[in-house]
Amino acid sequence: MADQKRLVILGSTGSIGRNTLKIVEAYKERYQVVGLGGARNVELLLEQVKRFRPQYSCLLYEEDYSTFKDEFERLGCQLLWGKDGYRRLAALDGVDTVVSAMVGAAGLLPTLSAVESGKCVALANKESLVVAGHIVMASARKHGAKILPVDSEHSAIFQCLNGEKRETLRCLILTASGGPFWELSKEAMDEVGVDDALRHPNWSMGAKITIDSATMMNKGLEVIEARWLFDVEVDKIKVLVHRQSIVHSMVEFVDGAIMAQLGSPDMRIPIAYALSWPERLDLDVERISLTKIAELTFEEPDFGRFPLLALGFEAAQRGGNVPVVLNAANEMAVEAFLRREIGFGAIWRVVEMVTKRIEFSPCDSIEEVQYWDGIARLYAEEAIRKEDKG
Ligand SMILES: NC(=O)c1ccc[n+]([C@@H]2O[C@H](COP(=O)([O-])OP(=O)(O)OC[C@H]3O[C@@H](n4cnc5c(N)ncnc54)[C@H](OP(=O)(O)O)[C@@H]3O)[C@@H](O)[C@H]2O)c1
Repeated sequence: MADQKRLVILGSTGSIGRNTLKIVEAYKERYQVVGLGGARNVELLLEQVKRFRPQYSCLLYEEDYSTFKDEFERLGCQLLWGKDGYRRLAALDGVDTVVSAMVGAAGLLPTLSAVESGKCVALANKESLVVAGHIVMASARKHGAKILPVDSEHSAIFQCLNGEKRETLRCLILTASGGPFWELSKEAMDEVGVDDALRHPNWSMGAKITIDSATMMNKGLEVIEARWLFDVEVDKIKVLVHRQSIVHSMVEFVDGAIMAQLGSPDMRIPIAYALSWPERLDLDVERISLTKIAELTFEEPDFGRFPLLALGFEAAQRGGNVPVVLNAANEMAVEAFLRREIGFGAIWRVVEMVTKRIEFSPCDSIEEVQYWDGIARLYAEEAIRKEDKG
């Protein structure tokens, strides 16, 4: 169909990727999948290729590429692999929108490729902006690429800012669910296990972001993401804990008006908005009943019990290599926690240890970002080993 939007979905086997494909499935006449990128879940990627018939797909490892190349080709799909494969997929000619839904800083280079080739980027991979927001946004301006947020908070803010004059903005208010441990003391949090931390009260998401929500690092990363995405100073970004996850975020204006975006906690809503903007799709999602909800509560965050949120704000203020180091140390610590090598409380101790050890340095190029990311991962490995033994 001539006016179909042609999509590449990086991270199609993940939570955001699978939700994106649900929207594509419901709106086949609007969207055509040209490329899909997974990493280790070859079985699911193959299933997706059979269903959506993209021309290209990409896996992380060369061994999987060699094993499965022929099977993908029999389906009319050219298989790529590794970092170069993702970059190629992100920059394919004739593609309108790249959904960037890989997890972690690994998403940076493919996201940048999409931006450099002037695509519209539906951005879920917040880590790209956390580690290199200044580079990615400058590149988007240079190449005329549009970056549309998928993160529900940023999608809410994007919708609240619609048609408003930038100089009338007073502050952004990011809402946070508080995660599963909002009521727990810091000591009690030390005792929680992986399964408890993976039980988010309102959202169903991938493992890494679910743990980040439990530590509230996720909100810290979102502050940095918002700082770059909306080009606002960090002291104009506030966080409020809103346990019901119905108000997805708000914007306060100079006249005292506050605009909020509400909806059920379903990622298909912000994903669909990023795919269809400036239009809206008629989605088959649960409608919220305000009378049933009856009460919407808002509380100040507790930086003492959630020190990673404080570190997130600090990294956003300081900039340079600080967010890169924070993000890399956090990725390593969360992976170690998920492998059950360290406890929940050790996540922030590892991150704090690494961030304290590395001195500030400006980080103006991708090479510098990669350098500091590598150093932080080495230091995090050491810190994890110490925790493991202790
Ligand atoms: N889930 C949500 O509701 C949500 C909400 C807001 C923002 N986000 C953001 O969206 C991004 C994705 O989150 P998610 O929850 O969808 O994560 P997820 O379920 O863990 O999925 C991650 C995706 O990335 C792929 N991947 C993992 N490591 C990779 C690597 N080194 N190179 C290339 N691909 C790799 C995975 O492939 P395999 O599974 O095949 O290994 C999978 O397709 C994150 O940045 C997250 O912060 C998510």
